[in-house]
Amino acid sequence: MSDECVLSQKFKIEGGNFGNAGKASTSIKEILKEIGIDPSIVIRASIAIYEAEMNVVMYAKKGIITLNITPEELHLKLEDEGQGIADIYQAMKEGFSTATNEMREMGFGAGMGLPNIKKNADRFEITSIPGKGTTLDIIFYLNKTGNQ
Ligand SMILES: Nc1ncnc2c1ncn2[C@@H]1O[C@H](COP(=O)(O)OP(=O)(O)O)[C@@H](O)[C@H]1O
Ligand SMILES: [Mg+2]
Repeated sequence: MSDECVLSQKFKIEGGNFGNAGKASTSIKEILKEIGIDPSIVIRASIAIYEAEMNVVMYAKKGIITLNITPEELHLKLEDEGQGIADIYQAMKEGFSTATNEMREMGFGAGMGLPNIKKNADRFEITSIPGKGTTLDIIFYLNKTGNQ
């Protein structure tokens, strides 16, 4: 019964709004803790969704995270509208960043966000249409039998 959703919730992210940055991922972290998700998965999911949220704040106009939990998996889908990514292979490389000087002064732009999302997730998919937006699927398996 892998389609049986036990929880589904959406969170909005505003591009360019550094004042609210991190709010969606903090809310998600609290929910995951509250419903008793394995603490090691809560940590990995929180890191991944924070990086994904910050990328929307920095590089997109707006985005929506859909949190879906079934007995089998925790699925974070992030759909944004914005410039998109022309070269995903390059964007996935450790250290690659198009962050502005202003963003770097705020401590962002290490180019480790996407690689860290991939590292923390059990499954990670990224698709993008330049000029339209980017979609991330970040998945964690809840019944651990040998992953990670
Ligand atoms: N949601 C997004 N929309 C557009 N471009 C993105 C998005 N996420 C990542 N990118 C591009 O991929 C690059 C690498 O992202 P990331 O690994 O998170 O590093 P950083 O955020 O430090 O730049 C970014 O610099 C940006 O060019
Ligand atoms: Mg980033």
